[in-house]
Amino acid sequence: MPQPSFKTISIRQLTGAMGAEIGGVDLSENLSDQQFEEIRTALFTYGVIGFRDQTLNFDQHQSFARRFGTLEVHPIVNSLEGHPEIIKMHKPVETAASFGVGWHTDNSFFEKPSLGSIVYGEVIPPVGGDTLFANQQLAYETLSEGMKKTLESLTAIHSAKDAYTSPTALEKYDSDGPISYKKSDIIAQSVEHPVIIKHPVTGQRALYVNPMFTDRFEGWTREESLPLLEYLCKHAVREDFQCRFRWEKGSVAMWDNRMVQHAALNDCEKYERILYRVTVNGDALS
Ligand code: SIN
Repeated sequence: MPQPSFKTISIRQLTGAMGAEIGGVDLSENLSDQQFEEIRTALFTYGVIGFRDQTLNFDQHQSFARRFGTLEVHPIVNSLEGHPEIIKMHKPVETAASFGVGWHTDNSFFEKPSLGSIVYGEVIPPVGGDTLFANQQLAYETLSEGMKKTLESLTAIHSAKDAYTSPTALEKYDSDGPISYKKSDIIAQSVEHPVIIKHPVTGQRALYVNPMFTDRFEGWTREESLPLLEYLCKHAVREDFQCRFRWEKGSVAMWDNRMVQHAALNDCEKYERILYRVTVNGDALS
């Protein structure tokens, strides 16, 4: 991993594979161009960046996110009332976590998958509820030359059909539960992306399949695809590609979906957990 030098922020790397906590930044302020550029460079270097002890209102949260691009209004997940670009990820006391549980890349079923999300922690369990991340550039780099060559010629079909139509999700359509969903034509659609993508800024290659939304390889049946897909999805989240973000009240994490997969952990059933997520729109992948 290249190690850029920074003048306006401090960096504490989370693991040998990825992730960094950034110090010296107050995200509620209007950041200078230099400080913002260093944060952006850190994101594209480490895949996920975290900030501690922040106090953000909704406007400040969205203003920071807008420095990266336009903001997404999720086509399926209902947003916070009065704030179409914010999702309140609320897990009440004595309920299992369901949102974002399981490895995935956000919205890979979009024609233009999300660039990344910026999440602010408000109510955090005393223990549990961490988010796991895995570096998909390392996943690519550690494949054999033969496998890389094979995958370079493949595209894969991504769809939300299984993620949002399970009995659990169906119960939540149009409900007023902590996280509710709206029906959308996008659930029945599918899109095609390269299996190996090139990061639009750094040009680094990454593996781009995930168990939540990748259905099959283009031109292959699901049955033909499964053995290789399962192998790749397992390889993609090897322990030595991972880092783990431990939330605290006032923590902010941002990840780059062109570099990482992530998974929320369902290990804090008895505690409440509230995080606010703002997602930045991305571009078509190549
Ligand atoms: C997600 O955005 O996928 C969920 C992250 C989390 O709740 O930890």
